[in-house]
Amino acid sequence: MDGNGRWAQQRHRPRLIGHRAGARAVKRSVEFCLERGIGALTLFAFSSENWNRPAEEVGGLMKLFLGALEREVEELHRLGARLRFIGERSRFDGAILARMQAAETLSAGNTRLQLNIAASYGGRQDIAAAARALAEEVAAGRLRPDQIDEDALGARVALADLPAPDLFIRTGGEVRISNFLLWQLAYTELWFTDALWPDVDATLLQSALDDYARRERRFGLTSAQLGQPAPGETM
Ligand code: IPE
Ligand code: MG
Repeated sequence: MDGNGRWAQQRHRPRLIGHRAGARAVKRSVEFCLERGIGALTLFAFSSENWNRPAEEVGGLMKLFLGALEREVEELHRLGARLRFIGERSRFDGAILARMQAAETLSAGNTRLQLNIAASYGGRQDIAAAARALAEEVAAGRLRPDQIDEDALGARVALADLPAPDLFIRTGGEVRISNFLLWQLAYTELWFTDALWPDVDATLLQSALDDYARRERRFGLTSAQLGQPAPGETM
């Protein structure tokens, strides 16, 4: 979710106004997923690196985060969303931590939308934590090194119980992944837009889905193996 600061700058307003507008775009995106029957949405809300922003901005974001947890969780639960937070949550203060925990507990049985919030999250850190978990199991004698393979590591990264993401959307004009779900995105379709995050609405999200629907996902195979005509080929 990139471009909040620039959205505010264009309006000659403080960056925090952009973050607030960004929170409204989050609501629109969740509503979009619920309406379209999209089963899982993972939002990159705050990266491990974002802690290094000016203290005033970090403080404002934390206030916004806490406020959203206080106001939105019950409604999300009522709508059938299961909330989960991925990232180094020990870095958040007690009030936010308690709200995260409570939201996860309250909504744990919901199945309509898996709503994952990546906060203080980094993809490399996620993989490193999975490697550490494997090492601990080896040290404890529960696992042999030769049992460590893609499945073993993949089972220990964040959101391992969900299917890998089908579509990645990045707003704000940068064309990079910026340490989002590095392991999980291996075969995900990537979609980039210059639109700033606060301007995201159902029309833009639908155009991302339409583009996605036109892509051919081969997972390393050939078009022929998939039984589909290659682009420009007639059957
Ligand atoms: C993304 O918007 C929101 C967060 C990182 C919390 P930015 O704050 O990165 O907005 P720009 O890139 O400065 O426009
Ligand atoms: Mg940015």
